[in-house]
Amino acid sequence: MPAGTTVIEHLLRTQQETPAATGAFTRLFNELIVAAKLIVREVNKAGLVEILGFTGRMNVQGEQVRKLDDYANEIMIRRLQACGEVCALASEEDADLIEMPRQMKKGNYVVIFDPLDGSSNIDVNVSIGTIFSVLRRVTPGEGDGTLEDVLQPGYKQVAAGYFIYGSSTIMVYTAGNGVHGFTLDPSVGEFLLSHENIKTPAWGNIFSINEGNYNYWDENVRKYIEFIKDPTAGHLKNYTSRYIGSLVADVHRNLLFGGVFLYPADNKDPRKPHGKLRLMCEANPLAMVVEQAGGAASTGTQRILDIKPEEIHQRVPLIIGSKDNVRQIEEFIQGGR
Ligand code: AHG
Ligand code: MN
Ligand code: MN
Repeated sequence: MPAGTTVIEHLLRTQQETPAATGAFTRLFNELIVAAKLIVREVNKAGLVEILGFTGRMNVQGEQVRKLDDYANEIMIRRLQACGEVCALASEEDADLIEMPRQMKKGNYVVIFDPLDGSSNIDVNVSIGTIFSVLRRVTPGEGDGTLEDVLQPGYKQVAAGYFIYGSSTIMVYTAGNGVHGFTLDPSVGEFLLSHENIKTPAWGNIFSINEGNYNYWDENVRKYIEFIKDPTAGHLKNYTSRYIGSLVADVHRNLLFGGVFLYPADNKDPRKPHGKLRLMCEANPLAMVVEQAGGAASTGTQRILDIKPEEIHQRVPLIIGSKDNVRQIEEFIQGGR
């Protein structure tokens, strides 16, 4: 499709083939886009309007909440409630399902989101983003959705994607028909098609991991990292390390260039034996995008999208990116190397 195609045009053209395209989906996407534009407006002037720093509160994850986390969360909640197409909302920042105002029209979609990913990078002007996952309700009726509507395995997602607030603001989404990227043109105020049908390379020499956790990893993970750093091991190309510390930015770079991001389980914090990243609002949506682009996403022993969630904020080890890299790591983790 021509550059300059907007997200909604692209959705209408690609979604038309699916009978479910009733306009509800595009109304939902439209609100996601409005939310992102409101968030990036604050991100771009964060240093000027006293919105940096901490709120002094801790979130359900036990993490310090930054003002921009809160702001992005409020915007996402308000916009998604207003679109009238949602029956349940879950956010990384809220312990339980978000209360849906009684007078609001409800719909058949569930949205789970990380309103601001990469919070530790907010104050230092490094790329951060918003991640979203869209499911269809499974419980009957027209009222509020329930936990049953939210706790669905990742392969049930009807759409997923992210916004990155970086050198430019981009949106990447999939609705099951490939992965497409749009860049915000501030002079028009629209996200315009810039990366149609993204396909990730089967293999890449970029590895992305926080080596500060080296001593807390499983032995097989350490073995893999030693292996890829060994220039005599016969790699297609010597590896290079890149770690931004914003999951959405690290995954996006590897999506375009090839390579792999790992946040393995570690024994650093007994409260988080499965690593730091969340299944529902981080791993699942990014796994759908990466798989749709020809890549893979695994815990090391299980496909991310096959995991049956037990609770909203459950954490998983995440290995995501080029499929040959992911498969090789699975061999190491499963003790085959
Ligand atoms: P969030 O800001 O939504 O809490 O996510 C931060 C995550 C993720 O973006 C990133 O990959 C990871 O934290 C970095 O963790 P470390 O600082 O432990 O490497
Ligand atoms: Mn995050
Ligand atoms: Mn976050």
